[in-house]
Amino acid sequence: MQVVETIAGMRQVRKQLREPVGFVATMGYFHEGHLSLVRKACAENPSVVVSIFVNPAQFGPAEDFDTYPRDLPRDLAFLEKEKVDIVFTPSVAEMYPPDFNSWVDVKKITSRLEGASRPGHFRGVATVVNKLFDIIQPDVAYFGQKDAQQALVIRKMVTDLNIDVKVVTLPTVREPDGLAISSRNAYLNAKERKAAPVLYRSLCLARELWEKGERDAEKIRQQMWELIEEEPLATVDYVSIADPETLEEMDGIKTPALISLAVRIGKTRLIDNVVIG
Ligand code: PAJ
Repeated sequence: MQVVETIAGMRQVRKQLREPVGFVATMGYFHEGHLSLVRKACAENPSVVVSIFVNPAQFGPAEDFDTYPRDLPRDLAFLEKEKVDIVFTPSVAEMYPPDFNSWVDVKKITSRLEGASRPGHFRGVATVVNKLFDIIQPDVAYFGQKDAQQALVIRKMVTDLNIDVKVVTLPTVREPDGLAISSRNAYLNAKERKAAPVLYRSLCLARELWEKGERDAEKIRQQMWELIEEEPLATVDYVSIADPETLEEMDGIKTPALISLAVRIGKTRLIDNVVIG
């Protein structure tokens, strides 16, 4: 396994890789969610590149860029155990030199859900993923359904900008109690950690109501909201039942439907989703 820090170095080693090249973009601090993507990439491709880059462009000014958990030696030890060929770990200065001034802005689907709560977030994500695709030239890139809107934004960018990369989305990996695994779970104290599965419970409630025949999206949103607010440490940011392609909110439920939510547990903002139908 080779660790490469520069763009020029990455372009150089790319020339020697056997194709197809699989790619997993990450911000590091690995958990089973990241590793599920890495393992799939290794199973499906003779060469695999993983990037580790905490991308300042996708954090808002009041967000957690400075405190975002980082542990490169631990991450590299995880990757050594898989069959990863290259780990690309550029610095912020390498990716964003002082005169950096070009952005990728996917419109419309980014005005909803996470995009509405985190202005500029998806511009930062699309820009860095576009740069990583250009530098690494992967054939296949793997993303998690955990960040459903992010996967959708990347697919849209790839289609609109004719980027020659196949985008694969893989299922959300969960803790035994249903909590979606996330680097930000590390911020939760013991009480908050106990409260956090309320996100998944509310998604399961939505699925149950739908299975029992409820088709009024607003009634389901309301019941999810009530379930979450019963948990004293939880504050709802949004609860959404939307078309998985356009992210437009539904009145009557048509399938498939993306049920997603963002909830603050104490000070930690968590997201999760399921697709029904
Ligand atoms: P990060 O949060 O490190 O996530 C890297 C990849 O792991 C993303 O595709 C994300 O959806 C996936 N992932 C995270 N938790 C998961 C889980 N529990 N189950 C399955 N997959 C999971 O997402 C980012 O980084 C950044 O926005 C990035 C795409 C790297 C651009 O900076």
